[in-house]
Amino acid sequence: MLELATTLQGQTIQNRVREVGINPNHWYAVTWAKDLKPGKILPIRIWNQSIALYRDSQNQVQAVENVCPHKGVAMDKGKVQGDAIVCGYHGWEFNGQGDCVGIPYWGEGQKLPCAQMRSYPVQERYGLIWLFPGDRAFAHLASVPEIPEYDDPKCFMVPIGAEFKAHFSICNENTMDVFHGYLHQNLQGWFDPVLLKLRETDEAVTAEYQVSYKGILTKFLGLSESGGITTKTISVDYQYPNYINKLEGVSALYLMRLPISATESRSFAMLFLRLPIPVWLVNSVRRVLQPVVLHLLFLPFLHQDIEMIESEQENYLKNPQRRYVEVNPAIIAVQRLIVKQYDRYQQTLQSSEMISR
Ligand code: FES
Ligand SMILES: [Fe+2]
Repeated sequence: MLELATTLQGQTIQNRVREVGINPNHWYAVTWAKDLKPGKILPIRIWNQSIALYRDSQNQVQAVENVCPHKGVAMDKGKVQGDAIVCGYHGWEFNGQGDCVGIPYWGEGQKLPCAQMRSYPVQERYGLIWLFPGDRAFAHLASVPEIPEYDDPKCFMVPIGAEFKAHFSICNENTMDVFHGYLHQNLQGWFDPVLLKLRETDEAVTAEYQVSYKGILTKFLGLSESGGITTKTISVDYQYPNYINKLEGVSALYLMRLPISATESRSFAMLFLRLPIPVWLVNSVRRVLQPVVLHLLFLPFLHQDIEMIESEQENYLKNPQRRYVEVNPAIIAVQRLIVKQYDRYQQTLQSSEMISR
């Protein structure tokens, strides 16, 4: 673990981070579990790979390439039949491992053709479907983040999904960037940020900031009794590829990033609040409170962020050679981690190629 200096300093940054791909040897959240209905096929994309998700007869999630090995038709045009996913064109049937297990016009007892599509390790946890797009031999070495607040009755959870027309690095920098309270000032966001601590490893960048809050929001969140100015520590922990942000004793935000392509990303976030009201009351007002918190408290911030993120991406595409000036060492560390993870994956690819030669 490397402790980095926390002084702000102008640095001209490389743009390579906008061009790198993902390290697929991690578990990625790909959809909310409730959106994958039994009997339905849900297409998702992760870093240019199109994948079809479905639930088998045991309600277990299966994930296969969204391309039929017969003629290349998208599997999500087909249907689910028992444990099989059936292509909509000629009705070829495949199991969750991607093997062809039936063809409706095939002679009885005749050996099926060897038609296979890729399948992916997949699991359902914390109301999300997680998928491992990398080398399946490494799937057991990685794990989904621990989210202890998920089962804590004292925590009130708000799920927040978002889509960005931007490379995942731009989105991830926004999440690490506590110095943009300026953007949210009309929403009575935070102000006077100070970077207190910064640590970097091959897997994570953790920053601690001090921020101040005031206004109605602070009162609602129990940040202060009177609604006056409160100063708190916020920790922003980028554990590639996800974020865990905690505001001292008040809230925790788990943000799972799904990189879709060089210019598209999604996020699945869970905001946990410890509201200053009794647990029974939290439970009885949950249904009403979830949309209120989402629409009043979170979405206005998110919409402002999306506008900045997409503008950054647009201007990057207009002139990829242009260099920009960054002053926050935490952002530089995030960029370094993204590039490092990508390079590490490229190295594992090269060494496995050498072994297979
Ligand atoms: S293209 Fe899928 S069964 Fe023919
Ligand atoms: Fe923001």
